[in-house]
Amino acid sequence: MSTRTLSIAFALTAIGTHAHAAEPLQALDSAGLKQADPAVVELGHMLFFDPRLSGDASTACSDCHDPNYGWSDGSELARGYPGTKHWRNSQTVVNMGFMTEGFHWDSGLASLSDQVHDAMGAGFVANIDTVLAEERLRQIPEYVERFGSIWGEAPSQDKIADAIAAYEQSLISDDSPFDLHMSGQSNAMSAAALRGMALFDGKANCSSCHNGALISDQKFYNTSVPPNVGLSEEPLRQVTFRYLMRLKGLEPAVYEALDRDPGRYLATQNPDDLGMFRTPPLRYLKYTAPYMHNGIFYSLDEVVEFYNIGGTQDVFGTKSPLIKPLGLTRDEKNDLVAFLESLSGSELTADVPALPDYEVQSFPASNLQITAASLKGGTALAPRKAVAEPAQSTGSLDLTPAVQTESSGLLVMAPKDAGATASAITVTVPAEPGTRVVTIGGQRFVTVQPGDTLGTLAKLIYGDGRQYQKLFNANRDKMSNPNALVTGMRLRVPD
Ligand code: HEC
Ligand code: HEC
Repeated sequence: MSTRTLSIAFALTAIGTHAHAAEPLQALDSAGLKQADPAVVELGHMLFFDPRLSGDASTACSDCHDPNYGWSDGSELARGYPGTKHWRNSQTVVNMGFMTEGFHWDSGLASLSDQVHDAMGAGFVANIDTVLAEERLRQIPEYVERFGSIWGEAPSQDKIADAIAAYEQSLISDDSPFDLHMSGQSNAMSAAALRGMALFDGKANCSSCHNGALISDQKFYNTSVPPNVGLSEEPLRQVTFRYLMRLKGLEPAVYEALDRDPGRYLATQNPDDLGMFRTPPLRYLKYTAPYMHNGIFYSLDEVVEFYNIGGTQDVFGTKSPLIKPLGLTRDEKNDLVAFLESLSGSELTADVPALPDYEVQSFPASNLQITAASLKGGTALAPRKAVAEPAQSTGSLDLTPAVQTESSGLLVMAPKDAGATASAITVTVPAEPGTRVVTIGGQRFVTVQPGDTLGTLAKLIYGDGRQYQKLFNANRDKMSNPNALVTGMRLRVPD
């Protein structure tokens, strides 16, 4: 990652003499992040949205880090890889390029690339084996070409991680009213937000943890956030939570007694870290509700009220002494919320990229013939000899399809010359430009290819993955549930 230098002089003139106050994001040097090779960022953009980087090709990074939900997923606790459910709230990936002390609610991962490896491999996130991921991409010509032209090599797990990390580093939000104000633009913040800023640094004491250019000290505290009952009541979340605790090697006596997320303890197993979470950066909050490691609060009013009453009863014996009743008046609470709102700038949107299709890459990849003798070392590998093709049928076929128009939409082919035979019959029906949709007998169809999900097909066809339900409804006769896609299945495409 790039070197970042704090423009201390700039920050100090902007904030006066408060030791702890928040600083503008511009105080961090983003030049390095912005200089990333655009070809790498573009590739990372595609991979971030590509569900084929998960075991069953169902779950892309963007499913849990969706631009429409602040690059988080809008739910209290994240979904998980099918068959599991995550036990934590999905975090935004905006401004992640600036973080220096690690990633996740417990900072258990050191770099953005490490995080990609972890997310892809974790059984409850993308659950894909490295080699499988590489082989998938190596059967997609466009990826082969992009990896080749950037790095001169075939798609590899390391470069997948580098490309996705580069894409994440390009997601920068630094135009909040607060940032504009701190950069000298008068009138950027409302009077209420300015009063809230004074409370943030003063009476409410928020900046003892939320400070600096990230508005986070990137350190760990137990703020006594109450548990989310979703974790104790949903069997699949229990499964996933306990699975992870066992993977981390926690003693049965410990993990069977834990009724809530032990936070950083999971990463360090240091008892003093029980219930500790990393202070989150506070930019972009407008788009990332619900809040906290378990999504327990839906609004910033609730968050402020939580701090105002001094948090809740601590169970771990590690609660920060900085969390104590604040005695804020109603107006002060409103001002503080106005300040928190002023920390979000414009929404960072992204196109869902068109994902390239699979295509067999010259198989086998080598032109040398393997023989028993060559493998035993007796002879060198020799070029493969052409195998004689079976004689072609000379009968001419008229394959004009006889189509049963309305009923089932099935394509029935009847050779007109009943006496003729052929070894292979291929019929190509022209696809609509830009899609894989073909029209047969007035009805539109798409054929399922490896890697497709209803969501990716809906994105392709309607430009909107959320239309997958429409596709599902029109094909319920073939599918028991939206995940029951089978390669080769022909789906009806409603308008
Ligand atoms: C099934 C949902 C899911 C998927 C898929 C997923 N994530 Fe996440 N992501 C999460 C959750 C939940 C967290 C918080 C994890 C924790 O604290 O243990 C997270 C955390 C992160 C963070 C840390 C942010 C911070 O503030 O420290 C980054 C970066 C990230 N994910 C990127 C990715 C990338 C890249 C992919 C694809 C390779 C991906 N995620 C796939 C749910 C998901
Ligand atoms: C002792 C350090 C500390 C203090 C003081 C503190 N916070 Fe926090 N803040 C945290 C930590 C740690 C979390 C994450 C806790 C969790 O998820 O369990 C957090 C979470 C938040 C979140 C949720 C962010 C998200 O992305 O979900 C908001 C908003 C917030 N704090 C605002 C404030 C405000 C406003 C104040 C002052 C009234 C304040 N904090 C005081 C450490 C602190």
